[in-house]
Amino acid sequence: MSSNSGKSPAREQWGSQFGFLMAAIGSAIGLGNIWRFPGVTYSNGGGAFMIPYVVALLTAGVPFLLLDYAVGHRYRGSSPAVFRRMSKRWEWLGWWHVVVCFVIMTYYAVIIGWSLRYTFYSVNTAWDQDKDGAKDFFFNKFLHVASTVGYDSSPVWDVVIPLVVVWAVVIAVIGKGVAGGVERANKVFLPLLVLLFVVLVVRALFLPGAVDGLNALWTPNFDSLGDPKVWVAAYSQIFYSLSIGFGIMLTYASYLPKKTNLVGTGLVAAFANSSFEVLAGFGVFGTLGFMAHQQGVGVDKLQGLTGISLSFITFPTIINEMPGGALFGILFFLSLTLAGITSLISLLQVVGAAAAEKMGTTPLKAALVVGIPAAVVSVFVFGTTSGVYSLDVVDAYINQVGVLSSAIIMSAVTGVILRKLPMLRKHLNKVSDTKFVGTWWIVIVGAALPILLAYMMGDTVLGYIENGYDPKNYSRGFEGIFGWGMLAVSVVATIALTWAPWRTNVDSFTAQDEEGAEYSHAGVPAPAQKSDAKEVTSDAEAASSAQA
Ligand code: ALA
Repeated sequence: MSSNSGKSPAREQWGSQFGFLMAAIGSAIGLGNIWRFPGVTYSNGGGAFMIPYVVALLTAGVPFLLLDYAVGHRYRGSSPAVFRRMSKRWEWLGWWHVVVCFVIMTYYAVIIGWSLRYTFYSVNTAWDQDKDGAKDFFFNKFLHVASTVGYDSSPVWDVVIPLVVVWAVVIAVIGKGVAGGVERANKVFLPLLVLLFVVLVVRALFLPGAVDGLNALWTPNFDSLGDPKVWVAAYSQIFYSLSIGFGIMLTYASYLPKKTNLVGTGLVAAFANSSFEVLAGFGVFGTLGFMAHQQGVGVDKLQGLTGISLSFITFPTIINEMPGGALFGILFFLSLTLAGITSLISLLQVVGAAAAEKMGTTPLKAALVVGIPAAVVSVFVFGTTSGVYSLDVVDAYINQVGVLSSAIIMSAVTGVILRKLPMLRKHLNKVSDTKFVGTWWIVIVGAALPILLAYMMGDTVLGYIENGYDPKNYSRGFEGIFGWGMLAVSVVATIALTWAPWRTNVDSFTAQDEEGAEYSHAGVPAPAQKSDAKEVTSDAEAASSAQA
């Protein structure tokens, strides 16, 4: 809790604004773009879903992305450091971000491990040899899934080995620092992903039946717009897909130099992410159209159009029927692997940056200190024969409760409680090339979004309390451990991390105020910052009380 009076480590920086943009887009483009967006669109009104989707992008995605950018850039720190610098009472919110990212990355890495293994299986379409089909192969030959739901500690080596490789790669990337690791990795992985995925989509569009798939996906059902669930689906998709509200974009923005076009970069990142989602829609539904064509049925009769089923059962089934299926499989699973790795890097950076600042250590030591325990949890909780069950439950609870609560509290704290939004708005406009951010932004972020998100979360949480997440498949006891229990452990970890002492002087930092000037909070603010007197006073107070 207290802060050491030793020096603050020098802050790392991106090598270039382009490097930051690559990393931000790499974080946003993930599994959610490829396996979630097409299915969500299809089941929520097809082409008509683009209306709530674009509304959600403009009214929540872009405004919240700018909030993350503004907070990270203005206060220049990891999530806990940033919230502590705003007000010591809210440091815990930063640790909540860190813990949520930690939980997500422990199972997100597992899905990347599966994808990596399937990239190799694709070479000889290994599932083809299973007479009972791709579903049997996935659950029984690959995952050796336990026959009853419950924890089973038997390791699945086909999962554990690629999983360890994935962790080794991301720990090495984070260990090399922001410019030398994260930026360089994204500059290689992201263009490679786009290239592979474009080839895959073009191939999909030339398959017989592809047009039927596209018609099924994009034919609008305007009646769906009257259903609140469709709107909730659009807002959830935007939050998940843009990686906003739980510390990722905040942390990435904290490494930007003083004068940076935050607004322009944010708009480009959001546009690139959505473009990739639409591209994935064409690729996935073009391919599904081919499957329907082969089976002589309509696309509406197909099962498994999203998530794990889409990627590891439906796609392998299609690949079996396709000329040149092995190559298509390699392209698809390598794309999933790359999209996942660039997002996993950003999750680990949130945790690693916080550890490095709290402990006053190097990126490499921080990457090892957080990466190794995360890898161990990954292996022992999700790399076993019961891993697919726990993964499903942890994913539902951490997203619906962990991520949404992070976003709600963050907008309520910055907007209503600490009233930082006018200052952050000025900051965004000052450092960016345009004065795009008006008072509308304050209204959206400080009032409309917390209410909307609280409604979304409340609705889901009440459902979980009453019936559980998936009562057909999981007992209340199982969800009690991997859902509510996991959340309870996360709360305890957040409290413990907030109380642990800082080994750096976190309160002494060089802020970038809305005038674009720098000042040290440990010292006396320069006279030029008078226009932000309230802000300077509160931060300076925080600094002096921390050192008392
Ligand atoms: N934004 C990342 C994804 O879409 C988390 O998977």
